Formats: sequence, structure tokens, C-alpha cells
Amino acid sequence: MDQIVVTGGGPLEGSVAVLGAKNAALKQMVAMLLAPGTHRLTNVPGILDVELMGRVLDHIGAECDTDGHSLVVEIPDDPRPEAPLDLVRQMRASIIVLGPLLARTGTASVAFPGGDDLGARPIDLHLAGLRSLGAEFELEHGTVVGRAPNGLTGAEIDLEFPSVGATENILLAAVLARGETVLNNPAREPEIQDLATQLNGMGASIAGAGTSRMTIQGVPTLAPTSHRVVPDRLEAGTYIAAGAISRGRVRVEGCLPEHLRMELKKLSEAGCEVKRGDDWIEVAGPDRPRPVDFATLPFPGFATDMQPQMVALLAFAEGTSVVTENLYDARFRYLGELMRMGADVSTEWQHAVIRGSGRLSGCPVLAPDIRAGAALVLAGLRADGYTTVSDVQHIDRGYEGFVDRLASLGAVIERRSA
Ligand code: EPU
Repeated sequence: MDQIVVTGGGPLEGSVAVLGAKNAALKQMVAMLLAPGTHRLTNVPGILDVELMGRVLDHIGAECDTDGHSLVVEIPDDPRPEAPLDLVRQMRASIIVLGPLLARTGTASVAFPGGDDLGARPIDLHLAGLRSLGAEFELEHGTVVGRAPNGLTGAEIDLEFPSVGATENILLAAVLARGETVLNNPAREPEIQDLATQLNGMGASIAGAGTSRMTIQGVPTLAPTSHRVVPDRLEAGTYIAAGAISRGRVRVEGCLPEHLRMELKKLSEAGCEVKRGDDWIEVAGPDRPRPVDFATLPFPGFATDMQPQMVALLAFAEGTSVVTENLYDARFRYLGELMRMGADVSTEWQHAVIRGSGRLSGCPVLAPDIRAGAALVLAGLRADGYTTVSDVQHIDRGYEGFVDRLASLGAVIERRSA
């Protein structure tokens, strides 16, 4: 198990380019299951989660070949419709194979993913949506066994909550269902829009992605395609937050500022200087940020996956901020680690009160999940002395070359084997 050791110090300066979005690439790998043949994905980040999803596809019978940031996947005519527990445990997003496997083969067995570091994370909305299309499910010894004895048929589905995963599972089944599916209150995240673009490139007929009503006309077959993954707004946001926390100036290239509107608004409110172009963002951090209140919400609200990085910034604010987490019940777990560094924080249900202080002091901390792990490294950029972040495999799941990229901006940082 490696550790990241970061020494607090000077401001980060320079520019960094982001890769394709983890949360788009993973689902686009799964979308390939809908059509036999050779698919290609470019701008794929070299991260652990992509490798793990590759293993899920291998199990199903696909062959994945990586060449730099390109991925070529050969999907067989007769996929094996299952994802076992050892793979689903490592890669929770594997649950997304349920919809496309049911659509293609009429059956699917996927280990029930269970909860993780962020909370219970149920899949009731995924199953309810697929049931509306004609699927039947039973939970057998920890495995969700799905069947569609009469095939799938389009339906009007009202999602109670705009779940990203449920929207994707339904979409990936509805594209091959008979007739029309109308999905009300779907997730509107940019990664959903990018998935719809890839699927339409494969011959699907999806309208309204990115709005609160999607319409999908089912088609009998789809064909392989080549697709470039949308830039990672969360990777971009993380490097911007790094610049702001370190009182530096960081420019992120190859990103889409429209995908970070709420996060940039809050950074401005905190006293950061924010400049943006069509595909770049530059942020300079103040000496002491102003306190800011914010609440996480589905897109276009403030992303829950940027909450820990923003809290790391607010830990240095001149005043008290109140942060409300609406997506995950255990997303504040990392605050205990931030408190070990000296942050003055208290929580009440889904609210955190952060009383900013001029200094944190470096110490050993554990990365509890991808984003909180990154946020602890960011806090270490400005803490006194050095911060040792363990369990960095979480960070590897979502960030390619995190240490090297921060070092290229001037951070005093290294990766060591523990
Ligand atoms: N939920 C339900 N029932 C469901 C589905 C979801 O109650 O059937 C609840 C969840 O428990 C959670 C909330 O709804 O409290 C949001 O879940 P959602 O389904 O929207 O999220 P997800 O698909 O499981 C994806 C990202 C997460 C990101 C969320 C929210 C991937 C692989 N993961 O998860 O990304 O936080 O959307 O934007 O796309 C990350 O990248 O670090 C990460 C955790």
C-alpha cells in the first residue's frame, strides 16, 4: 500500500490538462455490451477504475486493449450475462451491466453491490425502472437475478430521484426495448449527456439528455462506434481547488467550464479570482478565503464529488461556513481526518459547520474514498510540515498521475511505498 507525502508550502503555479471523465468512461465501456464487434473509446483516463471495469468486461467475454488513452474493446456475439461478487465489490458501478445484459440476452446475474464508504447506496430505483420495462428480479444468495422472458418494452418511467446510476441502467436497456420509453426526472449530469451521444453514435434514438425528460425510441440492433470521452469536470475542479488552497494560480486546460458553473460560483464567493475560456479555467486563491455556505445537489447543483475539496479550502477561511450534504449519508466521514490536522469542524446530521482557521498542521491521515483522499492531499498543500496520506489506492481509482501533476505545479509531494 503506497502513501502520498505532501509538504505544505508555497503556492501552486502553472497549468495542467485534464483527461476524460471517469464517470463517463466507465459507463461507455458498459454501453459497448449492447453491440457485438469492435468499439473504440479515446481520451480514457489511466485510472484503477477503468482497469477494474475492464476486468468486468473480460468476465463477460469481451477483450479490452489499451493503447495510451485509447481503449479498443471487442464485444462477443454471445456475452456471458453475469458479474460476480469479487468484481462488483471492487467496482460498484458494475451494477450498470444489468440493463444492457437484460436487453441483449434476456437474463443477467449481478452480485448485489451493497454499501460502501459513502453510505448504504441502494439500487431500488435501478430495479424499479427496469421492472417498468418488463424485467423481473429476484435476490438469490446475494445476487440480483434478472429475467426478461418476454423481452423489454418501452414505458413511461417517473424517477423519484434523479439517480445517475438508475438513469444509466434504464437508458442502457431502453435503447434496445420495443417502442418508446419516456424517462421523467432523469439525472442531467454531463456524463449522462455524453453517454447518450455515444449511444446515438451507435444507432440509438435518444432525445432530451441533459433535460428533465428523456425520450428513447427503441431500435432492434446497435452497431459499434468510436467515441471521445467528455473532459472530467471533477478532475478539473480538484486541480482548481488545489491552486486556490495553496494561494496560487492554476490553469486547467481541456475542460468545459459550463460543467462547473456552481462550483466556480462558490469559489468566486470565497474570494478566488476565476477566469474562464471555452475550454480552460484559471483560478487564483486568496490569502484567507471568505466563508461560504453551500449544499450538494444533483447536477447542475454543487457536485457532491467536489464537496471535500471545497471543505478543505473552507478550513482555511476567515469565518464559519455551513455545508449541507444531500447525496450521501456517510460522505462526511473524512472530516475526522481533517480534524486530526487541526480543522475546527462539527457535524449535525447532513450539515457540517466549518470554523476556518489560518493554519492546519500536517499529520498521518487515511484516504477514505476517492474525493476525500484528494481533498486531504490538498489540505496538506497548505498545512504546516508534512501530511502522510495512506490508503491512496482510493485516489488511484479516480486520478491519473495525481502526484506527478501536482508536482508539475510546484507541490512538494511524493509517493512512497509504506
Ligand atoms: N440512490 C437510491 N436508490 C437508487 C439509486 C441511488 O436511493 O436506486 C441514492 C444513493 O444511495 C445516493 C443517491 O441516490 O444517496 C445518489 O446516487 P446516484 O445513483 O445518483 O449515484 P451513483 O450512480 O451511485 C454516481 C457517481 C458518483 C457520484 C454520484 C452522484 C459513478 C461511477 N459514480 O454514483 O461518483 O457521486 O453519481 O453524482 O458514476 C466519484 O466519482 O467519486 C463518485 C462517488
